[in-house]
Amino acid sequence: MTKNELTVKTDRLILRPLERSDFDAVLSYYSLPDVQRYLDWKARDKIEAKVAFDALRKQTRLTRPGEIITFAIVRKTDGAVMGHVSLRWADAHAAQGEVRFALGPAFRRQGFGSEAVNAVITMGFADYKLHRIFAVTAGKNEAAAKLLKHLGMRLEAHYREHALFQGEWDEELHFAILDREWQRSAKVRDLSRHKVA
Ligand SMILES: CC(C)(COP(=O)(O)OP(=O)(O)OC[C@H]1O[C@@H](n2cnc3c(N)ncnc32)[C@H](O)[C@@H]1OP(=O)(O)O)[C@@H](O)C(=O)NCCC(=O)NCCS
Repeated sequence: MTKNELTVKTDRLILRPLERSDFDAVLSYYSLPDVQRYLDWKARDKIEAKVAFDALRKQTRLTRPGEIITFAIVRKTDGAVMGHVSLRWADAHAAQGEVRFALGPAFRRQGFGSEAVNAVITMGFADYKLHRIFAVTAGKNEAAAKLLKHLGMRLEAHYREHALFQGEWDEELHFAILDREWQRSAKVRDLSRHKVA
């Protein structure tokens, strides 16, 4: 799959690879503590953030395990870069993938996160033939837990005090969904949309 083909459109969003000019938009939320927790590349200052951003920009294909595709989450109406969403190919043999996502605070609680994650999970199953997609979030991350549950993901594990994070006991939630469960829930979502209409 080439970079140009890596654009997904949803009702309100365009998901596309990050561009050089997106740096300021990403910088505005990248170093927030509630976002940093989920990033492989930590960024304590602008220089570290630029290194992290350049790494995200290079995440444009899933050809081998360990690779990641990262999309900018762009609002259709005005082109605002609101956040990013990534799909990591975690295990080739068992076709496992991981989804990660973050939005700037100004864009939260409007359903944009759900819309972006929904699109990337659909892509993971349809285009990359993944068997299972999972997400890991902090025990206290009510927003991410709700988002994942509402998309039909199952809470498979709740690790209590499994590690220390910034000097405090950490809790971790592991959510997942199988390809066949996603197909089923997509049908249910379609049916309920018809009912409402
Ligand atoms: C998690 C995150 C992406 C959610 O994005 P969002 O666009 O605000 O999510 P949505 O608007 O789609 O909301 C999803 C659900 O969570 C709920 N929600 C959102 N923010 C919430 C909050 N701060 N507290 C409680 N519930 C919240 C919404 O009400 C919605 O529930 P509903 O379907 O019952 O209405 C965003 O909060 C974020 O970027 N957080 C920091 C990074 C992060 O936690 N990433 C997750 C890594 S796995």
